[in-house]
Amino acid sequence: MSDFVHNPVKEIHDRTMKLKLIVWRQANAKAKGGMVEYNVEDISPDMSFLEMLDVVNEGLIRKGEDPITFEHDCREGICGSCGFMVNGVAHGPDAGTTVCQLHMRRFNDGDTIYIEPWRARAFGVIKDLMVDRSSMDRIIAAGGYVSVKTGSAPEANSVPVPKQFADAAFDAAACIGCGACIAQCKNASAALFTAAKVSQLAHLPQGKPEGARRVLRMVEQMNVEGFGNCSNEGECEAVCPKEIAMTNIARMNREYEKALFTK
Ligand code: FES
Repeated sequence: MSDFVHNPVKEIHDRTMKLKLIVWRQANAKAKGGMVEYNVEDISPDMSFLEMLDVVNEGLIRKGEDPITFEHDCREGICGSCGFMVNGVAHGPDAGTTVCQLHMRRFNDGDTIYIEPWRARAFGVIKDLMVDRSSMDRIIAAGGYVSVKTGSAPEANSVPVPKQFADAAFDAAACIGCGACIAQCKNASAALFTAAKVSQLAHLPQGKPEGARRVLRMVEQMNVEGFGNCSNEGECEAVCPKEIAMTNIARMNREYEKALFTK
């Protein structure tokens, strides 16, 4: 009897991939950038996309070359730090998934993968795949908060919130502010991001007193930052790693119209 035992699981884990990466390299905000080709080997299908880039960077550092700059923090799909275009799609081909949670088994051995930073007028490239997303912070600073002293956690039933409103607020609050919605939109509109931040408070009683001022200020800041207008393309919703719904944009528009009459 042969002592060879076929182990399909081991076979999958032992398999490695060769890839051709075409990556946007740009030394700094003022430098002229361009696509650079890298041929990489020994990539495990079990690696995340960022782990694959770590391997590429280790090779570049060994050769004395500048590693590819990209942002990341949690690598668990919760912080919103990561994000770039993979083959023209924000965060890559998997729906509801950040690029840090995208795995190489999603690709085939021998694939060519194009990697580019978010492209939007309001997102200047800082270096390689890292862009300046401070414009989103300024939209939040314009009104995405409740200015009351909340103190310690109150008793849960002291301010009753109907379940459907609590759920809607929670769904909107899932936005991690990564900027994928803006990067994918042909208008580079920040409508979905801003709408999520408006909606999460508009659904709750605690958000009502400042509701009108909030939506007016946040929409104004969105325009000041140079984001485009929403034309209901739906690409934002399609690539959002938290699957924030476009109904939030309708909610923001209603809040905005109401606020115009009450200011
Ligand atoms: S690194 Fe935190 S969401 Fe990707």
